[in-house]
Amino acid sequence: MKKLFVDLGKNSYDIIFERGLLSHVGDYIKLDGKKLLVMTDDNVAGIYADAVVSSLEKAGYEASLLVLPHGEKTKSFDILPAVYARLLKERITRKDALVALGGGVIGDLCGFVAATYLRGIPFVQIPTSLLAQVDSSIGGKVAVDLPEGKNLVGAFWQPKLVLVDPDALNTLSDAFFTDGMAEVIKYGCIKDKKLFDLLDACGGKSGLMPVIDEVIYRCCDIKREVVEKDEKDKGERMLLNFGHTYGHALEKYYNFEKLSHGMAVSVGMYEICRLAEEKGLTEKGTAETVARVCSAYGLPHTDDAPCRKVVEGVANDKKNLGDKLVTVLLKKIGESYLYPTDAEFFA
Ligand SMILES: NC(=O)c1ccc[n+]([C@@H]2O[C@H](COP(=O)([O-])OP(=O)(O)OC[C@H]3O[C@@H](n4cnc5c(N)ncnc54)[C@H](O)[C@@H]3O)[C@@H](O)[C@H]2O)c1
Ligand SMILES: [Zn+2]
Repeated sequence: MKKLFVDLGKNSYDIIFERGLLSHVGDYIKLDGKKLLVMTDDNVAGIYADAVVSSLEKAGYEASLLVLPHGEKTKSFDILPAVYARLLKERITRKDALVALGGGVIGDLCGFVAATYLRGIPFVQIPTSLLAQVDSSIGGKVAVDLPEGKNLVGAFWQPKLVLVDPDALNTLSDAFFTDGMAEVIKYGCIKDKKLFDLLDACGGKSGLMPVIDEVIYRCCDIKREVVEKDEKDKGERMLLNFGHTYGHALEKYYNFEKLSHGMAVSVGMYEICRLAEEKGLTEKGTAETVARVCSAYGLPHTDDAPCRKVVEGVANDKKNLGDKLVTVLLKKIGESYLYPTDAEFFA
């Protein structure tokens, strides 16, 4: 077992890492309330829900299960009344807690429900996708989507505990594993040349799996450090958006149909490095290095969409919200900085 402590004053919590942990989560969850509602999706439920619920019962909790359809559609504002109704039916009080068992969709939704039900109740994150284990389960950003866009209604609501079982990745599809790898590569790019070199040396998923525990731990440690410095996302935390300005724009450009989030971020990381290299803002050769590691993990680095057109939409959205377009650049692999920019940068 390994542990990290996320130090956020009264909102602090542990992240616990252990292979096989999913079969005895009850040993780690120490909450005052006696009722727990486990929220999960219909893919994850069939594999892990029984073990999780029975371990919680063995630990003395009254556990119930809410299984929702898998996929981003579930993370919608419209689903909330039905979820709150279920919590009321189970007589979940402010002393009780929710458990998010699944990927980022379940984690974000469950966290948002926890943040808002009865003005806020505790929740525990048990992330099962790579993306959720290295990224979305830590840091307390919780949200649901509106028809107008993703994550438009949300809160900062930290979990009481995060439980990471790297063995859960054995049942995750290759496509979702690949998707999560974009975030893993991102951490190496922005903060950790040693991690980046390790990913490079592993040369792909099969080489990486024997050291996946170490890699997840390292990513979480980076996220911990960034979140501790900037819980509310006003400065340092924006570094986590490396590859995301262009990536998000590209996802949107294709109406979220052609490219997954990880694929779009991968293209975004390469494109921003390429453009910044041309302008002398990033060490030469960085873009090609990023491209090599991305493709080793099955991620694309180029796309046919016209750069400038892709970004114009985002630049306009930002302007309408009174925000500046700030992008994250690499000085070189492992060192990142914020750079205020505009759509011209991508011309
Ligand atoms: N809160 C944050 O800071 C943050 C950060 C990044 C992303 N996100 C959000 O995360 C969401 C994406 O998360 P995701 O990629 O995990 O998607 P997801 O939750 O949809 O999970 C991906 C797929 O894998 C399945 N799955 C998950 N774990 C599995 C396992 N162990 N075995 C078999 N199948 C498994 C799920 O059922 C789903 O079909 C997006 O909504 C995004 O906005 C949030
Ligand atoms: Zn991302």
